[in-house]
Amino acid sequence: MSEINNICDIVIFGGHGDLSLRKLIPALYHLFNDGYLGHGSRVIATTRQVISLEAHLGLVREKLQAFLKPGEFTEPRWALFSSQLEVVQVDLSDEESFGPLADMLNVYPERDRINYLSTAPSFFGSTCKAMHRWGLVTPQSRVVLEKPLGQNLATSKKINDEVALYFDEDKTYRIDHYLGKETVQNIMALRFSNMMFMPLWNNQNIDHVQITASESVGLEGRLAYYDDFGAMRDMIQNHLLQMLCLVAMEPPCSLEANSVRDEKVKVLRSLRQFTPEDVREKTVRARYTSGAIGTEAVKGYLEEDGVDPDNMTETFAAIRVDVDNWRWNGVPFYLRSGKRLPKRYTEIVIVFKEVPYTIFANKGRCISANSLVISLQPSESIKMKIMTKIPGLSEAMHLHEMKLELNMPENAPRTHEAYERLLLDVIRANPTLFMRRDEVEAAWRWADPILEAWAAGEVKLKNYSAGSDGPANAITMIERDGRSWHEE
Ligand code: BG6
Repeated sequence: MSEINNICDIVIFGGHGDLSLRKLIPALYHLFNDGYLGHGSRVIATTRQVISLEAHLGLVREKLQAFLKPGEFTEPRWALFSSQLEVVQVDLSDEESFGPLADMLNVYPERDRINYLSTAPSFFGSTCKAMHRWGLVTPQSRVVLEKPLGQNLATSKKINDEVALYFDEDKTYRIDHYLGKETVQNIMALRFSNMMFMPLWNNQNIDHVQITASESVGLEGRLAYYDDFGAMRDMIQNHLLQMLCLVAMEPPCSLEANSVRDEKVKVLRSLRQFTPEDVREKTVRARYTSGAIGTEAVKGYLEEDGVDPDNMTETFAAIRVDVDNWRWNGVPFYLRSGKRLPKRYTEIVIVFKEVPYTIFANKGRCISANSLVISLQPSESIKMKIMTKIPGLSEAMHLHEMKLELNMPENAPRTHEAYERLLLDVIRANPTLFMRRDEVEAAWRWADPILEAWAAGEVKLKNYSAGSDGPANAITMIERDGRSWHEE
């Protein structure tokens, strides 16, 4: 459905950064071409260097051709999109330099303005302050904060406090792009529109839950950022915890933003806090050494350009999480995420309990517990693994596991990228899929003791070869509980 009346100005601070060129501008290209943004809207990239509009358009065109899927870049679409693009030089560390941006925006003072801070978080507060000083924070202005929102609870609070001086909470959109993924939103549809799951979704029937985000990529040229963060801050504290929240939360009373966020924050507050002993027993941290992804030989983390040899950044983390409430008591959630693993996939696996007693001989093979596998990527699907009879005339009844599978239909419309959905929601002023301040802070409150114990050397940083399944102790961690990681 087209929403061509959405006319707004979108300012991307850090407009030539990797995120902007790889994700944000391609998402806006689609939104324009699909009719979700009206003609006359402007996408204004701010850059540190002075650059002509012509050179800016040349760069954006080249990146769109590189990052869009085959066939998506066409000359007529580019002609439409490029006519909305602007560029302006702003030095984020110098308030005085915001003047030309202010002149540009003040041409349409009443317009909805989306200010996307695709910059290092150290600039969030000062950028908001400069916008305020130049009168750019109007009632129609919203601010979008890209993660990471701090490195721990204290720094996250500081950033939130600084931004809150200029933007109210309802004008502040904290992005976690996993929430924009179609299948992540489908978790709510699955849970709250299918009666069959309602009575099963608790500790009486579910044995445990696994959430895995496996990546084959390495640093992708993001050393300056990644080296200060590592897998725990980059993936687990935000993307994986958000998925955990959607699996674990109680039904919200409506889809209104605060109803959903109230339920998520309750889950985050129910996460059991780690003692140093828990950290030793229930967490694993590791870093890749050289190896091969498929047939491509790849460097180890310490050999990547610019990495300090004393560096202790983890590129893999696995954690057993307990949710202390009535519904989930006794049901562990195993989270793991790593870079330079054999393949890229993200999945949530809900593993049900075993049947209490079996009447089937099943030739010594055990009856597998049912599981529900929600795959987010590379392809989106939902599979229910169930036991069925092996066809045949044998006297004894033998069983095997089969899958009931929901796939995106072949002729489904194009799958929208997470950033398309999220940018459109900011334009529509719908914050449901964004993190409220208390959510981010509750997530840090849980993560801090783990990070502190790791920094104090409580858990040894293990190695794994690039292209392997990760460190052996991540397997031991789950096997010690009598369980194993899901494999297709
Ligand atoms: C980002 C992380 O938030 O998510 C990256 O900073 C990671 O390190 C990326 O590669 C993964 O996103 P996706 O959508 O490819 O799973």
